[in-house]
Amino acid sequence: MTYAIETLNLVRVFGDLVAVDNLNLKVAAGTFFGFLGPNGAGKSTTIKMLCGLLKSTSGSASILGYDIEKQAEEAKKRIGVVPEELALFDRLTGAEYLTFVGRMYGMRKEVIRTRTEELLELMALHDDRKKLIVDYSLGMKKKLTLSAALIHDPQVLFLDEPFEGIDAIASRMIKDILKSLLQRGVTIFLTSHILEIVERLCSDVAIIHKSKLIAHGTLEELQSGIALKEHAESNRTMTLEEIFINLVGTDEIHKRTLSWLE
Ligand SMILES: Nc1ncnc2c1ncn2[C@@H]1O[C@H](COP(=O)(O)OP(=O)(O)OP(=O)(O)O)[C@@H](O)[C@H]1O
Ligand SMILES: [Mg+2]
Repeated sequence: MTYAIETLNLVRVFGDLVAVDNLNLKVAAGTFFGFLGPNGAGKSTTIKMLCGLLKSTSGSASILGYDIEKQAEEAKKRIGVVPEELALFDRLTGAEYLTFVGRMYGMRKEVIRTRTEELLELMALHDDRKKLIVDYSLGMKKKLTLSAALIHDPQVLFLDEPFEGIDAIASRMIKDILKSLLQRGVTIFLTSHILEIVERLCSDVAIIHKSKLIAHGTLEELQSGIALKEHAESNRTMTLEEIFINLVGTDEIHKRTLSWLE
């Protein structure tokens, strides 16, 4: 089976720090995948490697069967990305930037023009079409980055905290777009600390903690796994936040309990 995203013992080291430790992930095509973890867990480092923004130290990864290093161009053609650090060109307008991105993907001029207009309209950036990106607000930059990630109709979309700094109206609109993309068979790989959003949108979830994968499965599978260990007496379904804190936060709680006992 060809997965939309597959990693095999993927590792990234920064000096003495192992930021991503032997990551093995399989994401089937058409999945809305939530990639969770506390601050500094290794989420953005993983996304950067999967998008070709950062070289892996060892291991391998593929997008729709294309190796991200050996077949980088084939892989990159098929992905769209909203990275953690937005990389826009300050001295361009939104329309100029989208045109630039469209040309980089080798799209036809008329298609770029139509899609640029539609994207600016949809993201409510149309009224600021004369404004340079340097004068954009944070949320406007995020929406423009998302527009650039969508313009070439990618099959796999990587979103690193796409809802951060976005107003409620834009957030709802983005969620609706993501749902329609999913219906078209697009695979979406999302990191977000807003667990209610992940819970509502994602069918599959992985949790990375201290650079290691500690959970990977459907939401229901995670719920049943935890229910057996910690919540055997409770019949109700746990929220993703409870699952997350259970898996990631218990370390801290145990440490505190031990220091009390000493
Ligand atoms: N370029 C870099 N040089 C050195 N260390 C780095 C670099 N990039 C990331 N790290 C380190 O790697 C670890 C993982 O960082 P990463 O950005 O992947 O975390 P994250 O899960 O995305 O966290 P957050 O939720 O805060 O965005 C952190 O300890 C971070 O300090
Ligand atoms: Mg990050």
